[in-house]
Amino acid sequence: MNSQRLKIFDTTLRDGEQSPGCSMNLNEKVRLACKLQSLGVDIIEAGFPIASDGDFQAVKAVAAQCREVTVAALCRTAEQDVRRAAESLRGAARPRIHTFVATSDIHLQYKLKKTRAEVIEMTREAVRLARNFAEEVEFSAEDATRSDVDYLCEVLEVAVAEGATILNVPDTVGYTLPTEFSQLVSTVRERVVRDRDITISVHCHNDLGLAVANSLAAIEAGARQIECTVNGIGERAGNASLEEIAMAIRVRTDRLPFATGINTSEIYSTSQLLSQIIGFGVQPNKAIVGRNAFAHEAGIHQHGVISNPLCYEIMTPDSVGVPANELVLGKHSGRHALGLRYQELGYALNASELEAVYHRFTELADRKKRIYDQDLISLVAAETSLPQQPGLIAVDREQWGRSASA
Ligand code: KIV
Ligand code: ZN
Repeated sequence: MNSQRLKIFDTTLRDGEQSPGCSMNLNEKVRLACKLQSLGVDIIEAGFPIASDGDFQAVKAVAAQCREVTVAALCRTAEQDVRRAAESLRGAARPRIHTFVATSDIHLQYKLKKTRAEVIEMTREAVRLARNFAEEVEFSAEDATRSDVDYLCEVLEVAVAEGATILNVPDTVGYTLPTEFSQLVSTVRERVVRDRDITISVHCHNDLGLAVANSLAAIEAGARQIECTVNGIGERAGNASLEEIAMAIRVRTDRLPFATGINTSEIYSTSQLLSQIIGFGVQPNKAIVGRNAFAHEAGIHQHGVISNPLCYEIMTPDSVGVPANELVLGKHSGRHALGLRYQELGYALNASELEAVYHRFTELADRKKRIYDQDLISLVAAETSLPQQPGLIAVDREQWGRSASA
């Protein structure tokens, strides 16, 4: 199948870094940017240069180091913002100026205190100025999903007339629903893009937990650039999570016939690097990169996974770079999982030995939340005549038919 290419625009260093507790210093930003480049993102939004000298320096440093990706700098539609963004990108191999202004009446009235006509002029001048400095200019209509659609299209049309080639439709406050967002993207495609070589981008926040669903709905409606962050960090409830989007596209290629440049086997290490830099990780049940994302505790699930991982795994842990499948042993585990873990530890238990150990194991599991390998070794020593330190028998999970499609 000839799949269409989707661009991944990573804004971990800008929108992600803006969220509480997620700030990073210059070296950390450069380290993460290098990792994002090897992960295969297409665009790294490295900062908002007018916001602080730190942001300005970060964009400059990322632009100097990362030569194989597009580096974007964010700016409002004010002249000094655009100039500062342009200055920060001077050494970039592939610079992009990303300028934005709000288009919803609520933002115009209470935040910008501007009329609709004034915002149209601000858009015109900012995009025109930005085009003097960069071939590639992206325009974002902040709060697009709460904007009057005719007015939104009018502003986007002005941005295109001045040379913007990427039009971003942000769901700034995470308010939209998938079907509604899909309609909005279709409207922008039909009324503004038409047959022109313009990329529609989307940027979804997760206030209702719908950022990824909305981004996928937008792809089906014609969006070809997705803005997202590692671990889904970002303002308030965060942004669409990069790893969830990349894996949804990879796993459900039957319904989403698209390709990204993401080297999915680097997803887990990228997530870990970010967690290490910001000092906190994702919740255990976070899709794709959470500690429990590939763990199976209930006995019936463990038996199924051991027989064939396809029973309960829609992608392999190795496809996202997780070191190994983790069978969590706890009080819901069954004999099959226990027997496999003993084999992995080098013990070949016969049926009656396994039965005896299993009873001791369930008693212990009632008292302890997690059972570790050391506990199992103690149990086996107490219950059987097997030596405490057996020669290791290599057990390869491949023999249970690991062949998930992803
Ligand atoms: O959420 C938002 O609207 C933004 C824009 C600056 C793209 O972050
Ligand atoms: Zn945002």
